[in-house]
Amino acid sequence: MAKILVTGGTGHLGRDLVPELTISGHDVRLLARKPQPETSVEWVQGDLATGAGLDEALSGIDTVIHAATLSPIAKRGMRLADFFSSPADVDIDGTRRLLAASQHARIAHFVFVSIVGLEGSTLPYSRVKLTGERLVRASPLSWSVIRATPFYYLLKQMLEGLKWLPVWLLPSSPSNPVDTRDVASYLAQAVVDGERGMRPEIGGPEVMPFSTFARQYRDTLGLRRLVLPLPVSRRMSRAMGLVETTERLGQRRWVDWLSQH
Ligand SMILES: NC(=O)c1ccc[n+]([C@@H]2O[C@H](COP(=O)([O-])OP(=O)(O)OC[C@H]3O[C@@H](n4cnc5c(N)ncnc54)[C@H](OP(=O)(O)O)[C@@H]3O)[C@@H](O)[C@H]2O)c1
Repeated sequence: MAKILVTGGTGHLGRDLVPELTISGHDVRLLARKPQPETSVEWVQGDLATGAGLDEALSGIDTVIHAATLSPIAKRGMRLADFFSSPADVDIDGTRRLLAASQHARIAHFVFVSIVGLEGSTLPYSRVKLTGERLVRASPLSWSVIRATPFYYLLKQMLEGLKWLPVWLLPSSPSNPVDTRDVASYLAQAVVDGERGMRPEIGGPEVMPFSTFARQYRDTLGLRRLVLPLPVSRRMSRAMGLVETTERLGQRRWVDWLSQH
């Protein structure tokens, strides 16, 4: 069993990942920005944006799962400014710092959580994320990159923002967002399977038009809204971050996730 440092362990994915790793018998340590009084897991206070705490957090660790990110869109929904810039201090500078400290600490395996279709997206956040991923791929460490489609919570957040509109005109592009629990299981497996490099991407179990995900959301919430599918080119869909993958499929369906949340 590995001694694992998880960055982003307090985030949406991290909150599913940490129990998944501990149930699998691993020894887990979190890098956390704020004190974690209620966790049974070991934690070290640190900040990727400054480099504080990284050496201490990496002491005695064999595997790093780097799942921290700074996505303003995920935090507070999309704003106009997000089409022009996205902060780099965590995803680029922080990743660079963590890689250097991991090399120094002779980490055996560095796992990076990434996003499907980054090359095709025009969003500044995606470009920042891709730069961070490229740093990992260029690193002399033994690394794995696992790309996932957008998480269900992000889809819900986006659709919540449309609730006030009576008509939803939405792309019919094929998509398969995924449950963070499925990504967490995949990461737990990746820690022990001995594989390295670019791993198969993961998406949700159902590839459907994006507009159908919106219809299912509407129906689960019992909303009276008209959902109109809008055909959009593949290039445009990717530019907007509407992606799909069938390389590896999760198990949990959107409707089931919705009824649980
Ligand atoms: N969201 C998606 O749809 C999606 C899809 C595919 C892949 N991914 C990737 O999956 C990973 C997790 O995403 P998520 O949506 O679960 O993220 P999230 O909920 O936004 O959580 C972000 C995490 O990063 C931590 N963090 C932020 N700034 C930090 C800093 N300066 N130093 C240390 N930690 C910092 C946060 O800590 P605090 O609790 O202190 O804020 C939090 O634990 C990311 O790599 C993301 O790119 C996300």
